[in-house]
Amino acid sequence: MAIILDDISRTFSEYLLIPRLTRKGQRADAVNLKTPIAAYTKGQVSRLQINVPIVSACMQAVSGAQLSISLARQGGLSFVYCSQPIDRQVEMVRQVKAHKAGFVQSDSNTTESTTLAEVSELMQKTGHSTVPVTENGTATGKLLGIITDKDFWEFEDDLSRTVGQHMTPFDDVIHGQEGISLTTANKLLHKHKKDCLPIVDANDCLTALVFKKDYVDHRRHPQELLDESKRLCVGAAINTHDYQERVPALLEAGADALCFDSSDGFTDYQLEGIRWIRENYGSKPIIGGGNVVSPEGFDFLVEEGGVDFIKVGIGGGSICITREQKGIGRGQASALLDVAKRRDAYFEETGRYIPICSDGGMANDTQIVIALAMGADFVMMGRYFAMTEESPTPKMSINGQMYKPYWGEGTLRAQNWQRYDDGMSTRKMVFEEGVDAYVPLVGPLADVLDTTLYKLRSTMVNVGSDSLVEYRERAILTLVSAQSVVEGGTSSVFQFNSNRELKDADWGLEN
Ligand code: IMP
Repeated sequence: MAIILDDISRTFSEYLLIPRLTRKGQRADAVNLKTPIAAYTKGQVSRLQINVPIVSACMQAVSGAQLSISLARQGGLSFVYCSQPIDRQVEMVRQVKAHKAGFVQSDSNTTESTTLAEVSELMQKTGHSTVPVTENGTATGKLLGIITDKDFWEFEDDLSRTVGQHMTPFDDVIHGQEGISLTTANKLLHKHKKDCLPIVDANDCLTALVFKKDYVDHRRHPQELLDESKRLCVGAAINTHDYQERVPALLEAGADALCFDSSDGFTDYQLEGIRWIRENYGSKPIIGGGNVVSPEGFDFLVEEGGVDFIKVGIGGGSICITREQKGIGRGQASALLDVAKRRDAYFEETGRYIPICSDGGMANDTQIVIALAMGADFVMMGRYFAMTEESPTPKMSINGQMYKPYWGEGTLRAQNWQRYDDGMSTRKMVFEEGVDAYVPLVGPLADVLDTTLYKLRSTMVNVGSDSLVEYRERAILTLVSAQSVVEGGTSSVFQFNSNRELKDADWGLEN
């Protein structure tokens, strides 16, 4: 006979945190939100930590290059979706890695003989106003000069003239020598009041560009998640079908972490994939496994496979209908509590810490706060990011309100059949496990995340904690009754609909 668990499948909204002593001097802005992504051994530091405990989902409507850049700049990490051809995913990863941080390779270049009309078109297409002029027109050719949009006027100058006739020639270009530090490069920019500093090697060949705007950006985003070469970090999703081709290409492109995108990771298929990566690349690549909802699933991927982190959650996603369609899944709070307990026991037993990620179903900021208190090292979200300006989908107006489309990876639209490992490789979807929907547009990611993180820090102070580890160690949670949920909302007051302008009649001014 089947085993029936004693506990009920519970969700985040059934719990509340009990405040604990807030010590004098504790401040929300001093709370440290750093958290590990990669597994580590007691006494060591994880080889990848993110600065805020939030990552974006491996989904077409969520983790494109632009969102990945924005999130990394806020200290989080994105997992670029794998339900696309390998070369397109690789290109997205490359875009994030090339984005900035100090020395960047020039991706708009020209030659002396190019016409002003052509270079103007290049500037418009790429949005770059400074273009190096090299002997062969490549990013590593001999530098002959620099042309900027200030060197010619589109409606005043004869656009059939050449770049060579308008550029600042190399002898007059303030430049740096290969090998100088970023600090020295920035000092040169400052001293000579320049926006861009080309870096050349001993043969005067271009090697990189350093931009003033990157320096300013960096100062404004102290939480930025950067790799050793000061490039933004980005993760990439993989599946259990084409990892032998996808993984090498993603690692080559510079992906900082890989994550299996699978609705149910407790499978031999995922284990084979993990083993293949470990056999071919050793312990260096950071591999996320999942999703699981039980300690048994955790043990399988950790002990048998050696993953770095585990994603927890089946059936809770905002666009997810897996529980209705297949009858599998578990309340997200119960799954997380159970797996977190096993993670802690495993750490006690082996000295090996495996971070866990609560994936899907966080309907508001409070649930993020509760998930982290329950033991998640970080959370993965889809809907939250799909609603921002930076998600890869177009915004649209419906009845005067702006929306963005948001669809599950298990929809006919996404065609991500690789996410569902049932032993079939039919390359077609027989039924859907997700829905195709719309979500309201909420604005730039940085603004939304700022508020979320402020709430999190504030709650952490209420619990008397300065770090996420301390937070979950000190957290005391209570189950709430249906009546106390009602009590937690407003009571006996009249609230105006915030989406509606107040009318005189609302104030009793109209007779
Ligand atoms: P959300 O943050 O509640 O929108 O949930 C996002 C999570 O839902 C993702 O990280 C996936 O784990 C999961 N997910 C994505 N697409 C589907 C789907 O089509 N069906 C079920 N779950 C999905």
